[in-house]
Amino acid sequence: MNEMFSVAGKVAVISGAAGVLGGSLARHFASQGADVVGLVHRTEQVSETLESLQACGGNPQVYECNVMDAESLKAIASSVKDSYGKVDILINVAGGNVKGANVMPDQNFWDMKLEDWTKVLDLNLNGTVYPCYVFSEIFAAQGFGCILNISSMAAYDALTRVAGYGAAKEGVSNFTRWLSAELAIKYGDKIRVNALAPGFFIGKQNRAALLNEDGSLTERSVKVIAKTPMRRFGDLTELNGAAQFLCSDAASFVTGVVLPVDGGFSSFSGV
Ligand SMILES: NC(=O)c1ccc[n+]([C@@H]2O[C@H](COP(=O)([O-])OP(=O)(O)OC[C@H]3O[C@@H](n4cnc5c(N)ncnc54)[C@H](O)[C@@H]3O)[C@@H](O)[C@H]2O)c1
Repeated sequence: MNEMFSVAGKVAVISGAAGVLGGSLARHFASQGADVVGLVHRTEQVSETLESLQACGGNPQVYECNVMDAESLKAIASSVKDSYGKVDILINVAGGNVKGANVMPDQNFWDMKLEDWTKVLDLNLNGTVYPCYVFSEIFAAQGFGCILNISSMAAYDALTRVAGYGAAKEGVSNFTRWLSAELAIKYGDKIRVNALAPGFFIGKQNRAALLNEDGSLTERSVKVIAKTPMRRFGDLTELNGAAQFLCSDAASFVTGVVLPVDGGFSSFSGV
């Protein structure tokens, strides 16, 4: 039974590996015996991320990488394939909001910065599409592979303020479904594409919106908790099991789903 859920011996490329959720996922997969290849955005994140993965297990590597740069992704993909002989899993975690693409209560939509709208779409949508574009070619050639993208609650219903981020994550969900069908139809049932839609977890990018400096809830997070039947934020480790399931043989007939991990937020009207 446990064998079905195992990711031991699988080569798992994970972007955003120096981030809050990506770091937790990368350490979890390494601790489960996967060979994790962490992609990090900044040079100074490389050695720290590598050390944290080495402490967990497997045979990890870490690359500096801009997920919006297809050429650099191609070079990394080829190096990973050369060193491990295969790639089993791609998890696209890099992403986040861009402040200027928000519309705050005291602003009009037309005050939003268009360059930041473009930036948030680039980071979240292209930053998911480009790694899929590069690694799906490897998956098609080897005849197997599994992609896991990260969407958001902002993709389900409109969340106030986050205009650009919501549009980008809705794009990630739609693209996940499209790519799942495209790859299964053309390359068979061993290539799967799914996404997780995390509810509200405290990360670097949303800490200020969700917690006051003294740790108390902000006006916005009081509303978030009221719409979350479990009445709490997610713990960082609570994405790990869902991610492992979708990347394991236990999910061999699961493709094209966007799985909420949200304490019930997406299924509750709030009433
Ligand atoms: N924290 C939450 O509650 C929450 C909820 C829903 C979705 N998400 C999504 O989960 C993912 C991770 O969020 P997090 O909270 O861990 O945030 P985070 O800021 O801790 O992690 C994001 C990581 O992406 C990296 N990154 C940014 N730009 C990059 C680029 N161009 N190339 C490569 N890497 C880049 C950053 O260096 C960072 O390590 C994001 O896609 C986010 O949108 C988070």
